Amino acid sequence: MIIAIDGPAGAGKSTVARQVAAQLGFSYIDSGAMYRALALAAGENGLNASSDCEKIISLAFDLPIHFEDNGTRIFIGERDVSTPIRAPHMGEATSQIAAIGKVRPAIVAQQQRLGREGESNCGGAVLEGRDIQTVVFPDADLKVFLTATPSTRAARRIGDWANQQQKIDLAQLEREIAERDERDSTREDSPLLAAKDAVILPTDDLTIDEVIAKIVELAREKANQ
Ligand code: CDP
Repeated sequence: MIIAIDGPAGAGKSTVARQVAAQLGFSYIDSGAMYRALALAAGENGLNASSDCEKIISLAFDLPIHFEDNGTRIFIGERDVSTPIRAPHMGEATSQIAAIGKVRPAIVAQQQRLGREGESNCGGAVLEGRDIQTVVFPDADLKVFLTATPSTRAARRIGDWANQQQKIDLAQLEREIAERDERDSTREDSPLLAAKDAVILPTDDLTIDEVIAKIVELAREKANQ
C-alpha cells in the first residue's frame, strides 16, 4: 500500500506521516527532506537558484542522498544533514530550488524507488510532500491532503523551532509561509495541489493524534476493501 500525504508548510505532514507509518509498520519517506538536502548542498557550493540552474540540475542527479532510522535521518554521503536542512531559512531556499522543474525528475525517481522498496520490504510506504498524490504516486492507494489556516501553521512552526535559539516573529513567519504557499502552488511544474480523489482533511480543530488516528482508520478501511 502506498499512502500519499500532501499539504502546505506547517500543516503537520511530517509528524503525522511518521506516526502513521510507525503504527502501520510501513516505511516513511519525507520527500521535502530530499529537496532540502539539495538546497543545502547548492547553498554550500555557492549556487543560486536564479543564476545557476544548470549546475543545480546536475547536482540533483549526482547528490548521494539516503535515509536512515526509517526515514527520520537524512544523509548526503556519510554526512548526517538532518539538523542543518531544518534551519529556519532553509524552507524558503528549498522552495526556490524545488521550483526549478528540471531538478524534480532526479528526486522523483528516487522517491518512487523508495516507495516501491517500502511496499516490498514492509508492506507499504507513507510518503509526504507537495506532489506525491499528483506526480510521484498518482495511483497511490490512499491520498490525503492536510490543510490548516496560515496562522495555525505559523504557530505550529514556531513550536517546531522552540528549541532553536532564534527569535522568530509570528507575523513575519505567517507572511513567509504565505509566500511559500504561493510559490509552491503556482509553479509550473508539480504545483502543490490535492488530487481529485484525495481526502481533504482540515486540521485546525484536530490534535495531531486525531489526525493520525483518522488516517490510520482510512488506511485500514482501504486494506479491507
Ligand atoms: O516541512 P515543510 O512543509 O515546511 O517543508 P518540506 O515538506 O520540508 O518542503 C520544503 C519545500 O520543498 C517546499 O516548500 C516545496 O517547495 C519543496 N517540496 C516540493 O517541491 N515537493 C515535495 N514533494 C516536497 C517538498
